[in-house]
Amino acid sequence: MFGLFKSNGNLGIDIGTASIKIVELEKQGARKGLINYGLFELKGASSNTDGKTGILNLPDGDIVWGIKEVISKAKIKAKDVIASIPAFSTFSTIIEMPYLSEADLAKSIPFEAKKYVPVPLNEVILDWSIIGTKTPEPGKPATVEIFLASVPKDETERYQRIMQNAGLSLKAIELENSALTRSLLGNDLSPAAIVNIGGRSTSILIADKGYERINHNYEVGGFEITKSIAKSLNISLEKAEDLKKKFGLTESDENIINEAMIHLIDMMAFETKKTISAYEEKTKQKILKVILVGGMVNMPNFAEYFKQKLGLQTIIGNPMARIVYPQTLTPVLPELSSTFAVALGLAMREI
Ligand SMILES: Nc1ncnc2c1ncn2[C@@H]1O[C@H](COP(=O)(O)OP(=O)(O)OP(=O)(O)O)[C@@H](O)[C@H]1O
Ligand SMILES: [Mg+2]
Repeated sequence: MFGLFKSNGNLGIDIGTASIKIVELEKQGARKGLINYGLFELKGASSNTDGKTGILNLPDGDIVWGIKEVISKAKIKAKDVIASIPAFSTFSTIIEMPYLSEADLAKSIPFEAKKYVPVPLNEVILDWSIIGTKTPEPGKPATVEIFLASVPKDETERYQRIMQNAGLSLKAIELENSALTRSLLGNDLSPAAIVNIGGRSTSILIADKGYERINHNYEVGGFEITKSIAKSLNISLEKAEDLKKKFGLTESDENIINEAMIHLIDMMAFETKKTISAYEEKTKQKILKVILVGGMVNMPNFAEYFKQKLGLQTIIGNPMARIVYPQTLTPVLPELSSTFAVALGLAMREI
């Protein structure tokens, strides 16, 4: 989506709140091979949860510096970038239109889009793809389902500047959720829930027939959990972050850590269930699979606990399933998969 120029780009760059993730993929026959990857972490990102301290709130120069650090340390060679815009600054929906030729759709969609996109159309870049035709009820005209998305123009221009100053070339911008749908579901068209638990927020989306259908952004993530541990043990955020990563939800003498976290994690599960139910009620379809990604999934015992809380088939996402990679990476695969799911999906995209 939002393809800007033609090329064989293969860097996926996900600028998250807590870290910048970069993945380099290369075409290897019919598949894509992992060439390189790297991460730039913003230390102390958890010290503020008002949404003002994430990486995207830093001056452009700092972000450029961070990207350049990853590129040089990981010896990344590719220049062509596909970047994602976080779910909270993008908009997407599914609309139904009369069955028209693609050229006629292209003409009518901007008019239709005005009804849905919450900001003036001249401030956004609009994109759309046809999901498929709907079987009409007897006596009714045929319709097509269209995935409609918009990203703010000024954000796009900012990304373009940042990439250019980092010596890269931005080829396309994509919604974070579209990248996740690609990397986690591939050609699997059955309905699934994807839960991305990052630093700032938990993003829940339902994908069906290869497209995001609904999403819900719940503004609690790993930062809030670290804060809660720090507060209840009266320790620094750095110490709390270490404890969170080390012990997580495993049973231990320090059960007080669990107590500090459990309420917040239960809320994430509750919000997930709520989103799933909303979709099930609307479409009279069952969601049979929940896929977990995001840094928080690396926490010891997190996935097991979340699964039990949901009472649904819940798996940790495997965006590496369709990628060729060296066997030496096997030990780091779980962490690579959960943290780089968005960046992998971006790099997997054909420009
Ligand atoms: N091994 C681990 N154990 C527990 N928590 C972890 C672990 N690794 C990362 N995290 C947590 O995951 C969070 C960062 O996740 P992620 O990298 O997905 O966020 P982000 O994409 O930068 O943020 P967002 O998507 O909210 O903008 C942080 O709160 C971090 O503490
Ligand atoms: Mg993220």
